[in-house]
Amino acid sequence: MASETFRINSKSILFTGDAFMETRLYRLTSPTTDVVIKTQPFAEILYWGPHLAHFSPQDCASLIRPVANGRLDGDSPVTLMAENGHGLFGAPGLEGHRNGFDASPVFATREVSQNGQTLVITSEDATAGLRLVSELALSDSGVLKVRHGLTNLRDGAWQVDRFAVTLPVAERAFEVMAFHGRWTREFQPHRVTLSHDGFVLENRRGRTSHEHFPALIAGTPGFGEQHGDVWGVHLGWSGNHRLKCEAKTDGRRYLQAEALYLPGEMALATGETLHTPWLYASHSSRGLNGMSQQFHRFLRDEIIRFPGNKPRPVHLNTWEGIYFDHQPEYIMRMATEAAALGVERFIIDDGWFKGRNDDHAALGDWYLDEQKYPDGLMPVIHHVKNLGMEFGIWVEPEMINPDSDLYRAHPDWVLALPGYPKTTGRHQWVLNLNMPDAFDYLLERMSWLLGEHPVDYVKWDMNRELVQPGHAGKAAADAQTRQFYRLLDVLRARFPNVEFESCASGGGRIDFEVLTRTHRFWASDNNDALERNTIQRGMSYFFPPEVMGAHIGNPRCHATFRQHSIEFRGLTALFGHMGLELDPVSAGAQEAAGYQRYAALYKEWRELIHTGDLWRVEMPDAATQVQGVVSQDKTQGLFLVSQLAMPDYTLPGALRVPGLDPQARYQVRLVDHPNIQLTGAGGHTMRQLPGWMNEPVSASGEWLTQAGLQLPVLDPETAILIAFERV
Ligand code: DGJ
Repeated sequence: MASETFRINSKSILFTGDAFMETRLYRLTSPTTDVVIKTQPFAEILYWGPHLAHFSPQDCASLIRPVANGRLDGDSPVTLMAENGHGLFGAPGLEGHRNGFDASPVFATREVSQNGQTLVITSEDATAGLRLVSELALSDSGVLKVRHGLTNLRDGAWQVDRFAVTLPVAERAFEVMAFHGRWTREFQPHRVTLSHDGFVLENRRGRTSHEHFPALIAGTPGFGEQHGDVWGVHLGWSGNHRLKCEAKTDGRRYLQAEALYLPGEMALATGETLHTPWLYASHSSRGLNGMSQQFHRFLRDEIIRFPGNKPRPVHLNTWEGIYFDHQPEYIMRMATEAAALGVERFIIDDGWFKGRNDDHAALGDWYLDEQKYPDGLMPVIHHVKNLGMEFGIWVEPEMINPDSDLYRAHPDWVLALPGYPKTTGRHQWVLNLNMPDAFDYLLERMSWLLGEHPVDYVKWDMNRELVQPGHAGKAAADAQTRQFYRLLDVLRARFPNVEFESCASGGGRIDFEVLTRTHRFWASDNNDALERNTIQRGMSYFFPPEVMGAHIGNPRCHATFRQHSIEFRGLTALFGHMGLELDPVSAGAQEAAGYQRYAALYKEWRELIHTGDLWRVEMPDAATQVQGVVSQDKTQGLFLVSQLAMPDYTLPGALRVPGLDPQARYQVRLVDHPNIQLTGAGGHTMRQLPGWMNEPVSASGEWLTQAGLQLPVLDPETAILIAFERV
């Protein structure tokens, strides 16, 4: 088909007619989102926003910018590589040099190919001797993934200081949301208004981190769960990173994300190629819920793969039950009790290997502790399996304790820079996975564990950050992350049916890239149901419930020493991948009955929770936290209402239930609640229940969404579960 070329005016860029495939303008389209990219003479995203039902390429002429006075004489595009050479004075996408030369590359498009909704743009800077290959893929979910590959075409190494993916967002995206956190308090959202300059999120901890989850959301002022335009990005990378939202002096804005390189860490030899991590981007004009639902759908369609496609089994993890005190007879009693409670997978945590009696020693010595397990692990495993459960085990392969046989034999295997004292964290150092012998040793030991024992599940921990990570005298944080991926890749290829959990002192390594190799995250070491409500809500912006490890812990949480009822703990663990984190042998009868009840409730509802659309609902009182799931066919909805603090108002107001079919009628059913107390004589917060809790109510989806359902007055730190079932 011949392509028609339009000349808009003498100074304009050229636009092609209907034949996108042939030349300059390309459109990626999905049911919710479209992206329009101009590719000549350089690549520039012209549009990233809602799906366009009536798009024609000529439309893009409306976006040709004026040139302001008192500045450069021409237009300065925010290109895909955001080059300063175009007169863009913000952070460029690429910084580096060849011994001081070739330091300001500008790329011109050489070749473009589109295959379905994937676009590959090859461009070059012949002067600097660099080639850039940009890949953009828009999935049906509406999530756009982007990465660049840079190749050094010339003699002499090209030192890479920064290499980022840049995505422009609308000028009206004035508000930025990010997540701060710490150990035992991950995924805490915070916001800034960005009128000028930039907002930077920088992580130098060597793992994804509790502190700086690699994501930014830019949106229209005051965007909320159900309203506003939002552009959210997440960098799939488990090492150091930098994300930025920049408001240019001309009012344009862009998001930028990159793996962060330490000085001297990254150089490209002649012919070598470096890829940025994938950047995942989701735009929604329906607020944050729309953004999250697209991310969840994308992960379900393209990344999350459970061997055998099994429902997510109820776990029992031994850590907060027995810690390092491993006695096989007792562990088998725990397994017997666990099976009776409905547990489907039993996991032995830290403490099973040689000399591991506390957290001061033995990391690296991946041999069974024969003093604790004189008959080996098999009797315990057989016992677990005979009870009909899967068996899982904890490891922390990337670490080495100074007090370990491994360190005594190989003191040079530590990831460090010579000439400096080595900092310990949790009394441990990091093993240098860039040493082939160290890598092979780990591979051999892990293969022994998984090959000689019928292990179904591995909890892969990583309990400290990297300080001065060095290999052969040079910085090696990036290389260490890549070796960690390689180790998991080899193990997964050898043991394709084993599931892996990514744990790093709880939520220290949660990202899309590690999820391509794992099946679950331990969201936090904090099992306090009150804290978990906010942590899990924060995590839900990017991750669906089925990969979010959520356990019922002891009545008194070991992290905070707070106490919560079994109902509050049980319901809080329901909207994730549920487990128990305790000793069922020593649990009282009432507690044990609670564990059993919530394991059964989880099994009843997990299919809906793990496949439906997740909704977070804003209530008048910020301490009333509501989330729910509605099935894809809208026949069922399940909503959890958690009262996190003393209510602000004497009445909680109506829950306007999102996601239901407006035309259908739904029966409202109270599924679970604390022992709701009514009193007329002081104490507690409610005298009379809302009507629907006495007399059954059904209503249209439209009514429930628009008018809502009156909620009961809940005491602080309690929750109720409500189902909406189509009649
Ligand atoms: C940190 C993890 O997050 C805990 O769940 C537990 O596995 C301990 N490590 C064991 O050392």
